[in-house]
Parts: sequence; structure tokens; C-alpha cells
Amino acid sequence: MDDATTAYAKPLSWPDSDEQPASTQSNPNLDSPAAPEPVGKQPESTNERTLDRWFLEQRGSKRVPKRLDITNELLVSPGGPLKMTGNITLIDEDGNVSHSNNLNLCRCGASKNSPLCDDQHLDIEFFDSGAVTQISDWMPVNRPQTVTVTVVKDGPLKFRGYLRIFNKRGQECITMNGSLCRCGKSSKKPFCDSKHGCCSG
Ligand code: FES
Repeated sequence: MDDATTAYAKPLSWPDSDEQPASTQSNPNLDSPAAPEPVGKQPESTNERTLDRWFLEQRGSKRVPKRLDITNELLVSPGGPLKMTGNITLIDEDGNVSHSNNLNLCRCGASKNSPLCDDQHLDIEFFDSGAVTQISDWMPVNRPQTVTVTVVKDGPLKFRGYLRIFNKRGQECITMNGSLCRCGKSSKKPFCDSKHGCCSG
């Protein structure tokens, strides 16, 4: 790892040298960071959230990923979804790969459009305080990173790559990989506790 890399990505304790953050490894599909784009813009329908409208751009005859100059963040909303922004690669249960800069991920387990939120949490009156109590094991960074979220069949959302998980009460956890509960039953929400039949961990 060279100095330029370590300047912006320092774990609290260094892992083995071959465990570099995914975001610091070269990726021929990603260009230099582009100018920031508004990430607060919300789609008008649930289906639009599934699309790659924020992430891919047309280059000639190709659509190529565009890494935005934003860090990966996951806002845990009380009683609502996991609101993820950043440079996200999503791999669904069938192995299909899509890219996005803005996803609302279901964590109540009731969505009919899983892994995305379709507001079913309102109907089932899902309740969770949105507390984030896990301790960070990585330092904050400001450069663009990538994160890959894998939907495990009958299991959690596994992520790998820099992610700042936070809530609006000032709690945060910065980490490079983990599993997020998507059944709503974990005792360690927003993380999976691997205890429920719906989550194989
Ligand atoms: S969190 Fe919104 S449908 Fe599950």
C-alpha cells in the first residue's frame, strides 16, 4: 500500500496487507471521481430505486459506472429503512449485479420488493429505535470509496467496503465489512445477529 493510499484510508488496527479496502484496489470500470451530484434527490416510485440512474453514464455506445465524489453512508432511520448513499454495487439473491448511488434497503422484513423498501414498514408498524451501538474499527475518510452489498438468500445483507453507519442522534460506526439485518428480528439491529431462522448469517 503506498503513501497516497494510506493518507486517506487508515483502519484503527491494520489488517493483513492483502486485506486492503476494496475501494483502494484498482477497478478498471471506475473512472476518476466525478463532480459531486445531488444525492438527496429521491425517486418518485419504488421501482425507480432499483435502477442505476444515478450510477451509470453513457460513454459512446457504453454505459459505464461513474464514481461520485461522496463517501459511503448508511442512515439507520427509526422504524424505517436503511438509507444508503455512495458508490454501491448491489448483488441480488440470484447474482444479478446493479449499481446505484442511492438505495433504501428494507430492514423490517415485510417488503414485497425486497431488498428494497416499499413502505410496508408503515403497514406493519415496524419499530426500532435506530440505535447504532457497534464500535468503529476504521477511521473516517473523505475520498470516494466503493461498497458492495450482497443479498444473502434467507439471510442478511452482507457488505464489503468502507461504510459509515449512523443515525441522526449522533451515533456512528465506521467499518469495512459486516452483515445487516433485513428480517427485522435481530437483537443487534441494524446488524444481523445470526440467531433467527430467517438469517443464516
Ligand atoms: S423497511 Fe420499508 S418495507 Fe421494510
